[in-house]
Amino acid sequence: MEKLQEKIKQAASFIREKGVGEIEIGLILGSGLGELGDEVENAIQIPYETIPNFPTSTVEGHAGQLVYGTLGGKKVLAMQGRFHYYEGYSLEMVTFPVRVMKALGIHSVIVTNAAGGLNLDFTPGELMLITDQINFTGVNPLIGPNDNEMGVRFTDMSQAYDKEYQEIVRNVAKEMNLDLKEGVYMGFTGPTYETPAEIKMARVIGADAVGMSTVPEVIVARHSGLRVIGVSCITNLAAGMQASLNHAEVVETTERVKESFKTLVKNILASI
Ligand code: 6GU
Repeated sequence: MEKLQEKIKQAASFIREKGVGEIEIGLILGSGLGELGDEVENAIQIPYETIPNFPTSTVEGHAGQLVYGTLGGKKVLAMQGRFHYYEGYSLEMVTFPVRVMKALGIHSVIVTNAAGGLNLDFTPGELMLITDQINFTGVNPLIGPNDNEMGVRFTDMSQAYDKEYQEIVRNVAKEMNLDLKEGVYMGFTGPTYETPAEIKMARVIGADAVGMSTVPEVIVARHSGLRVIGVSCITNLAAGMQASLNHAEVVETTERVKESFKTLVKNILASI
C-alpha cells in the first residue's frame, strides 16, 4: 500500500491538471444540499470516479463530483456528495477529500449536513450553526500511525468549530433576518436512525442535533490545521419526538429550505 501522502499528492495533481488553481475554501455539501454547487461561477466539474484514489459516491441524490470556481466572491472547491462511514468506507477514505483539499491550498472548510433535531426550540426546516461536536461513533479517523508532516499526534479539539467564524456567521444570519439556531452536533455511525432511548441519552449528554456525517471530516480538518464552519439543516425531529423517521422526509425538508441554505452559505463566503 502506498503512503497516504502519495495518494493525496496523486489526487491533488490530477485535480490541478483539470484546471483547478488557487482555492481558499472547501465546501462539503450534505444530503439534499448539493445544489449549491450548481451556483459556482466559471465552474470546472470533476466527477469523483475520474480522480485517482478517490472513493465513489453511493448515496442517491448525491452528484458525486468536485466543483471548482467562484462563489460569494471566493475561490471554492465544493464536494457535491460526501462519503459516509455507514457506506462501508474506511475513515481514511471518508476523510480523504479533506486531505486533498488541504493539499490544494484551502485554509478553511464549510461543512454542511442534514440532521435530526433534539433541542425543543428547533423546528424542522431550520438551520443550525454547529458550535461543537460529540464524536459518538466509537472510532476516530486519526487512529493509526501519525504522519507528523500532516499534523500532530494529539489534535486539540477545543475549538473544533472556529469561534471567530461563528461570530461572522451569526452576523450574516442577522443581516438576512434568518433565525439561525445554534448547537452541538452529535455524530453516530448510522445507518440506523437512533432509538428514542439513544436520543434521550444524546439530549442528556448535551446534543442539540444528531447525524451520520461531519464528525470525521472535522477531526481531520483540525488535524490539518483548517478552520471549520459547520451548518446543519434540521430536517426532522429525532426518534421519540415524532411518530417515525424516514429518508424521504429528510430529502423533502432539504428541498424546502435549500434557498435559504444556499443564500446563507453564499453570504458566509462573502463575509469570511
Ligand atoms: Cl434523527 N439521526 C441521524 N443519525 N441522522 C439524521 C437524522 C437523525 N435526521 C436526519 N439525519
